Amino acid sequence: MSFPIDRPRRLRRTEALRGVVRETRLSTAGFIYPMFVCPGSGARKEVSSMPGVYQQSADKLVEECREVEQLGIPGIILFGLPATKDAQGTSSLVADGVVPKAIEGVRKAKLKLLVITDVCLCEYTDHGHCGVIEHDEVVNDATLGILAQQALTHARAGADVVAPSDMMDGRVAAIRGKLDEHKFENIPIMSYAAKYCSGFYGPFREAAQSAPQFGDRRSYQMDPGNGREALKEVAQDLGEGADIVLVKPALPYLDIIRMVRDRFDVPVAAYNVSGEYSMVKAAAQKNWIEEKRVVLEILTGIQRAGAGIVLTYHAKDAARWLKA
Ligand code: PBG
Repeated sequence: MSFPIDRPRRLRRTEALRGVVRETRLSTAGFIYPMFVCPGSGARKEVSSMPGVYQQSADKLVEECREVEQLGIPGIILFGLPATKDAQGTSSLVADGVVPKAIEGVRKAKLKLLVITDVCLCEYTDHGHCGVIEHDEVVNDATLGILAQQALTHARAGADVVAPSDMMDGRVAAIRGKLDEHKFENIPIMSYAAKYCSGFYGPFREAAQSAPQFGDRRSYQMDPGNGREALKEVAQDLGEGADIVLVKPALPYLDIIRMVRDRFDVPVAAYNVSGEYSMVKAAAQKNWIEEKRVVLEILTGIQRAGAGIVLTYHAKDAARWLKA
């Protein structure tokens, strides 16, 4: 069919028409809100490069969680800012650490929120890398046991899902094995399967106080030029027992989200990361863009690319706008 019989504009004339023919209907149902928990009580400090995002103690975090739940957002992902850091990230393994305390707080408050925990070493190591260091290199196999133990610590505290973001090879198998050994066979793993070495994590490293103290993450995170390799990473993680696979960042990697969605019949998540958020916030503060419109367009694009689950700092704002 072609013009003049076919006139695509016919279906764009009114909001009612546009609404019924819309292919992707942005929904709060797949949003996950990232949160940063620090020690102590009564603490709440805004991250300067991420307006609206806070580093806060467990009690304050629980207050915000009530709001998150009321907005209809189904879950949160927790990042810990521990009181102490060392070369092995041992503060990530203690039962009364920052993340376990936050999980317990959410549980005590009887919130129904899905609590996902980020499993990684970078927030807990003094050198800021996602694995342990030997001879100035981030070593793979020596890191796996620590990650598995950290995931177990989170599961014991009551996490619903664990999400390894370290990019060590074999970590999904190590975590699955450890969880199963301790009767946590029903705790799903959401693996950051295709995590790229990205400049868009900049503000997060301020938020999580996790900037590497030397070198960078190129020896473990993926090269931005690679697409096929993402499929290999996803296949490998699924083979090791991942239940949900995540692509990160989202915006420069929408093609990867689409490829993963088409190739694998599992839930696909995308992480709309800190730098993607900060760019929107900064431009909106200058009135260079219309924040609401741009945020809803970005989130629609990520869902249209194939991500049913979207981790985003915009979750609360977007949920409010979608409700209105
Ligand atoms: C690492 C981790 C990072 C993010 C989530 N988990 C940062 C990194 O790899 O440097 C980034 C999230 C964001 O930028 O919003 N454990």
